[in-house]
Amino acid sequence: MGLVLGIESSCDETAAALVDGDRRIIAQRIASQDDAHRPYGGVVPEIAARAHSERLTPLIAATLADAGLALRDVDAVAATAGPGLIGGVMVGLVTAKALAMAADKPLIAINHLEGHALSPRLADPTLRFPYLLLLVSGGHCQILRVDGVGRYRRLATTIDDALGEAFDKTAKILGLGFPGGPAVERIAATGDAAKLKLPRPLLGSAEPHFSFAGLKSAVLRAHDANIHAPADIAASFQQAAIDCVIDRTHRALADADGVMALVVAGGVAANRSVRAALEALAAQHGLPFVAPPLALCTDNAAMIAWAGIERLALPGFVPDPLDLAARPRWPL
Ligand code: KG4
Ligand code: ZN
Repeated sequence: MGLVLGIESSCDETAAALVDGDRRIIAQRIASQDDAHRPYGGVVPEIAARAHSERLTPLIAATLADAGLALRDVDAVAATAGPGLIGGVMVGLVTAKALAMAADKPLIAINHLEGHALSPRLADPTLRFPYLLLLVSGGHCQILRVDGVGRYRRLATTIDDALGEAFDKTAKILGLGFPGGPAVERIAATGDAAKLKLPRPLLGSAEPHFSFAGLKSAVLRAHDANIHAPADIAASFQQAAIDCVIDRTHRALADADGVMALVVAGGVAANRSVRAALEALAAQHGLPFVAPPLALCTDNAAMIAWAGIERLALPGFVPDPLDLAARPRWPL
């Protein structure tokens, strides 16, 4: 039923995976660059691109070796072709082109967002189209209606910061380190979410979009005022962010006729309070709630390989050309 080698290098994770048509992740390796970026408090594109170029090829060799396979055993090579930090995307895409050419395999260029959008189907064979997907990571904050492979409709996006970015900036303001989301969640658990009155941008708005810049600025002002404990600021921030997410998702669900499930993906889906609030919202709408395991929520190559499997199975599949350009911006 097909075996695809997937490659992901669009941000700060260098990853390779082998996935087959029976939803088996035969092998996967991920090299995180957290340590390289930590001193700067965020991802530095130039450092990321260099790290990908050093690590990717041996990582692919190791992934194939883990599975006891060679390049000739795969049916296609799939790689993220955008959107993302362009240097890293180019490393992954050029590598995939070279492997595809050398082994005479089809190349499949995957939109990173499509990888996230289809990843819940890798984890849950019962998940059927259409579904509503909340994609919340450090770089993306969108609500998508997923009608089928290659059939995505973006219903909402952020007009400023992504949700994970707001968590990361809050962590930076509070001096909690990088990456910030898990640290904010940890200290928020010990704080009082009702202590501060923080803004909830676009709450109740007729527009479908997200906004977190005003919330982040309010966190900065609250911190500078020096009267609140960091745990109370973190808890109040997290609650305000969740209120926004639930309000915006609720609004999108009202417009999403016939969806079979509410699905969340992306790094912020790891947050237990976010998950719990979304689960309650799904129940309120009489929908199943699907959240892939954390390893499939954060950036990984299994989701890219799986998107390749899904594309390969489409009637009339055509491989992508070897002169395909990497795209820093690529809306679904
Ligand atoms: O999907 P991901 O690994 O990479 C991107 O494509 O951005 O997401 C990383 C983002 C970061 O902003 C990180 O702070 C956030 O997800 N994150 C969390 C949690 N774990 C990761 N945010 C809130 N709570 C968490 N537990
Ligand atoms: Zn991502």
